[in-house]
Amino acid sequence: MLIKHAEGYKHVKCFGLYGTYDDALEWLKTPEIEAKPKTILWLGSSLGNFKRHEVPPFLAGFGAVLQTGDTMLIGIDSCKDPERVYHAYNDRGGVTHKFILNGLKHANALMGEEAFDIQDWEAIGEYDEQAGRHHAFVAPRKDTVVDGVHIKQGERVRVEESYKYSREEAKELWELAKLAENVVWANSKGDYGLHFVSKPAMFFPTKPEEYAANPVPSLTEWRELWTAWDAVTKDMIPEEELLSKPIKLRNECIFYLGHIPTFLDIHIARATDGKPSDPAYFWKIFERGVDPDVEDPTQCHAHSEVPESWPPLETILKFQETVRQKVEALYTSGEAESNGRMSRALWIGFEHEAMHLETLLYMLIQSDKVLPPPGTKLPDFSAFAAQSETLATANEWFTIPEADIDIGLEDPENDFETKRYFGWDNERPHRSAHVKSFRAKARPITNGEYATYLSKTGKTAIPASWCEQPYSNAKDLTTGKRDSVVNGHHEGVNASPQSITEGKFVRTVYGTVPLKFVMGWPVVASYDELAGCAHWMGGRIPTMEEARSIYSYVDSMKPEFESSLGNRIPAVNGHLINEGVFETPPSRALSNGDSGAVSSLNPRNLFVDLEGTNVGFKHWHPVSVVEKGNKLCGQSDLGGVWEWTSTVLEKHDGFEPMELYPGYTADFFDGKHNVTLGGSWATHPRIAGRKTFVNWYQRNYPYVWAGARIVSDV
Ligand SMILES: [Fe+2]
Repeated sequence: MLIKHAEGYKHVKCFGLYGTYDDALEWLKTPEIEAKPKTILWLGSSLGNFKRHEVPPFLAGFGAVLQTGDTMLIGIDSCKDPERVYHAYNDRGGVTHKFILNGLKHANALMGEEAFDIQDWEAIGEYDEQAGRHHAFVAPRKDTVVDGVHIKQGERVRVEESYKYSREEAKELWELAKLAENVVWANSKGDYGLHFVSKPAMFFPTKPEEYAANPVPSLTEWRELWTAWDAVTKDMIPEEELLSKPIKLRNECIFYLGHIPTFLDIHIARATDGKPSDPAYFWKIFERGVDPDVEDPTQCHAHSEVPESWPPLETILKFQETVRQKVEALYTSGEAESNGRMSRALWIGFEHEAMHLETLLYMLIQSDKVLPPPGTKLPDFSAFAAQSETLATANEWFTIPEADIDIGLEDPENDFETKRYFGWDNERPHRSAHVKSFRAKARPITNGEYATYLSKTGKTAIPASWCEQPYSNAKDLTTGKRDSVVNGHHEGVNASPQSITEGKFVRTVYGTVPLKFVMGWPVVASYDELAGCAHWMGGRIPTMEEARSIYSYVDSMKPEFESSLGNRIPAVNGHLINEGVFETPPSRALSNGDSGAVSSLNPRNLFVDLEGTNVGFKHWHPVSVVEKGNKLCGQSDLGGVWEWTSTVLEKHDGFEPMELYPGYTADFFDGKHNVTLGGSWATHPRIAGRKTFVNWYQRNYPYVWAGARIVSDV
């Protein structure tokens, strides 16, 4: 039929391949096919016929033979309404049952005998609510023998299972299969969707056992980070823009290209012979960037001298390569792990690079020259909007119980012997806090709510994440819907009053998106802006301790994690924690981070499971949170933005500046910075997932990718 349809097309040829899925995999690996850009179509929801645990490795198998940017269009049933599903498979006309029994006719033909007497068999369908699947059986109406096998009257023989995937389960599938979701085209009820997924340029895992297996990042983790860094610096900044400053208060873009390898080189040198890589003068100009006071830019912490002109790009990239090779050699020699000083130096360099990756991106997004990320497809924002509108629920209040929470970790900087996870100076030492009960909204304030706030209060200043002039640099990306997205002429979704959204756009790395398509995204704005909105909405922004208490509470509600990666001793109904120390029943104290007393290397003690969250480049933009209204959002689960807190960054009891980087936090104890927690879509999982990590920004800094949720006293 397809071949028939393709006749008459000039550029499309269609031909059939006869074989199994495994044959298809082999065919995809042939050199002439492998090199071509591909889209694999899988429209019939047949993934639903696999067992749940079989789907991710199956998809990942295809992902492995695809090239970066190749895509798959996958149909998935999402309906979990027992009535609807039952009647879909057990129609009143009996067509599906006839279809199932027809299978027995085919069996007879294959077996060359009347093994099944169709008259004696019936088809049975059942929806299994718990497993979210329909299963179909055949059963004989009387005792019978098939090919020597006795089958009792009514005994069920399973012939088909059809699993249904909720929106969240579908997202989990892509995550486990290491694919990126670009868009979902769904019916109005959202119970059938075509998911357009692609193989991303890089992929950061979401399970603590994978993203933080060891205190010092592995070479594989480094390479993934370098891929991300190169994607941003080499593909997203037009070369002529390298000398521009998308944010006037910060350095030119090119500074950061030199700063990252220089900072790493300095720390590697401090842990070894102290010698800089060539050219040595890079240490003078690239050690530290600027981040001045927003109100008075003449006030700035110490930073490197800014040269008359920056070195040529070529020289900087050569230096970067030299330092990367140094890192590779440290892993080859084993020094990265065996030398405690070096482990810490590499960890510092790694997290520093990961942090700059994000800050560079939020600088770039302020420029209308930023190019779209390589290996991605332009998301269909209007289709995403339609879907989130279908699934939206009211933003509920949750009562967070009174709790004692842990903050921070023990990580003495000069102890190079004990193997343990590292933390920045502001994460140390371990301490605890008592947090009273309070109420918290499930999810953060959205663009839609912020637009309403502006409109109702007559305010005209829009957040820096919005703009009033559309632009696009996604010229070479195609989804066919680009014009409607970028120009904003699409109608039909988000029935908000036109005046609120008219002429307003949200900045993304793909150019601007009309505000009306991203009404469900968390609004990205400064603390001062969001505090005003929170007050108007009848609440306030939580303190750092309250936010952590929310995260602990959410964590404690999650089902116990059963590691398939760790060792478990059979026949013991206990839970392995603390590297072999048994505890039955398992303790689930409300804990943020290592207790400090036990230096355990169980990553789950210090890192949260990030599955289903929008961090670590799952998307290159925030995602809608309106579907999360009935579910309290935990750490890094705010749709791809940091969470503002009302806590001012200040020196806490026991704070000691890092010897290796004394100004890291201490330079910002000026009373003007507030703590943010969690992570954005561009935050590395090691940072977004660490329970003790602290970030901070000036309260009026407009560019940071942070949002806020509302809390109130009980
Ligand atoms: Fe830096």
